[in-house]
Amino acid sequence: MTMTAVGCLYFGILTFLFCFHQALLSSVVLNVQPATFDPLTTEHLTVNCSYTHSNTSRVQVLISLFLSWSNDSTQQFQDVASINVFSHGHPVNVLTSGDVMASGEINIEGQSYMQLRWVLPNGGQVGFYKCSAEGTDNVGHNVIESDVIEVKGKTPDMNQLLLAIRNITFRQKATEENLEELKRNISSLASQSCNSTEIQSVISPSNLTWLSANALTYLYSNQEVYYLSKQQFHNVSNSQEFCESIGGYLIEIDDVTEYMSILPMLSLIRNLSEMVYTGGTEEHSENHWVFRTSGRSITFFNWRSGQDFSNQGYNCLALFQEYDWKMAETFCSTQFYTYYALCERSI
Ligand SMILES: *[C@@H]1O[C@H](CO)[C@@H](O)[C@H](O)[C@H]1NC(C)=O
Ligand SMILES: *[C@@H]1O[C@H](CO)[C@@H](O)[C@H](O)[C@H]1NC(C)=O
Ligand SMILES: *[C@@H]1O[C@H](CO)[C@@H](O)[C@H](O)[C@H]1NC(C)=O
Ligand SMILES: *[C@@H]1O[C@H](CO)[C@@H](O)[C@H](O)[C@H]1NC(C)=O
Ligand SMILES: *[C@@H]1O[C@H](CO)[C@@H](O)[C@H](O)[C@H]1NC(C)=O
Ligand SMILES: *[C@@H]1O[C@H](CO)[C@@H](O)[C@H](O)[C@H]1NC(C)=O
Ligand SMILES: *[C@@H]1O[C@H](CO)[C@@H](O)[C@H](O)[C@H]1NC(C)=O
Ligand SMILES: *[C@@H]1O[C@H](CO)[C@@H](O)[C@H](O)[C@H]1NC(C)=O
Ligand SMILES: *[C@@H]1O[C@H](CO)[C@@H](O)[C@H](O)[C@H]1NC(C)=O
Repeated sequence: MTMTAVGCLYFGILTFLFCFHQALLSSVVLNVQPATFDPLTTEHLTVNCSYTHSNTSRVQVLISLFLSWSNDSTQQFQDVASINVFSHGHPVNVLTSGDVMASGEINIEGQSYMQLRWVLPNGGQVGFYKCSAEGTDNVGHNVIESDVIEVKGKTPDMNQLLLAIRNITFRQKATEENLEELKRNISSLASQSCNSTEIQSVISPSNLTWLSANALTYLYSNQEVYYLSKQQFHNVSNSQEFCESIGGYLIEIDDVTEYMSILPMLSLIRNLSEMVYTGGTEEHSENHWVFRTSGRSITFFNWRSGQDFSNQGYNCLALFQEYDWKMAETFCSTQFYTYYALCERSI
């Protein structure tokens, strides 16, 4: 009896000391938002690992941050991403499924972090994540400090699943009705455009036939023809190819006049939350926006309010219906979303 009591007490003190020790020295903190996600409704899942340098940190000179994953905390962790003093703020070796954006920063004197942000997480993200800060202590020994967090996914129950399917069916029905009306509107609009003698004089008959078949609408103004695709695309490369079919390119919006002139075309898009690719890109240099065809720097912007410029995975410029057709950064290629292509061709 006595032995057991002492044992427990001893264990108790050890646990206390251990926790106290951890609380004092832990410089690595991993957090997840939301802690439990729902594959039916969650739009974004963020795992953020941060390291804060202080004179009590075990890791005094930070070299890298590593994120690893395991389906179960007793299994071996597999590498997911890492960032180090040489990777210039870009996480490297990002190995995870789904549409994910990785960002981060190493600041050995202050706060460093690495963040993974999934769009429409599908359940494959569930498990344990471990973030490790690797570096040296104040006498030059290699040290690692880690934090582990569990990412939980809700299992949708049958009722929720049925509700979600009903919602989709309902929305689809509404869309189809809208679409029928839209088709009638478009055909009347298209016949008006086709009958414009002006456009016939600048566009070859075969190009005009192509436009009638493939454009939701088109517009002739100021020595330019603008056309909006009927089709939606998963990436800018095939959007640009679409534009090139009749010798154009993704639109280069130079000024507010040009922007205002194309807005009425977009009002033909009636579905909700649609997006339209333009020719703006920062793929070559973060926060330096240029037009992909001419290479010129962009000077006119009409950013949506609250645009966050820290997403290094968002390198293309699109117009968002959700933001009243203002501009926002987005993926240049993604399997989950589709974009209309807005093209321009000079005459
Ligand atoms: C990640 O977490 C750190 C610490 O909480 C924070 O400073 C940083 O801004 C976060 N990163 C992003 C991109 O939100
Ligand atoms: C650590 O930093 C604290 C507050 O910045 C300071 O008061 C303390 O003297 C430092 N300790 C050492 C060992 O440098
Ligand atoms: C975790 O993955 C291992 C192999 O990587 C597998 O053997 C194991 O069954 C998985 N555990 C769970 C809980 O899914
Ligand atoms: C169905 O749609 C309604 C209203 O749009 C929404 O409140 C609800 O969360 C949706 N249910 C599911 C399971 O998606
Ligand atoms: C079709 O055109 C009419 C009249 O211009 C407009 O009121 C209606 O909203 C349009 N319908 C669609 C689906 O765009
Ligand atoms: C174009 O205009 C002509 C003459 O004004 C008219 O007969 C024809 O129906 C119009 N075409 C279309 C497709 O509406
Ligand atoms: C568009 O017109 C150009 C020049 O006349 C021609 O080379 C091209 O094949 C046409 N494209 C289509 C899709 O009609
Ligand atoms: C763009 O999307 C198309 C079709 O979805 C695909 O075949 C093509 O490989 C994609 N291209 C790039 C560069 O992602
Ligand atoms: C609306 O969305 C449906 C389903 O995604 C699509 O088939 C249709 O082409 C869209 N219509 C318009 C006008 O955006």
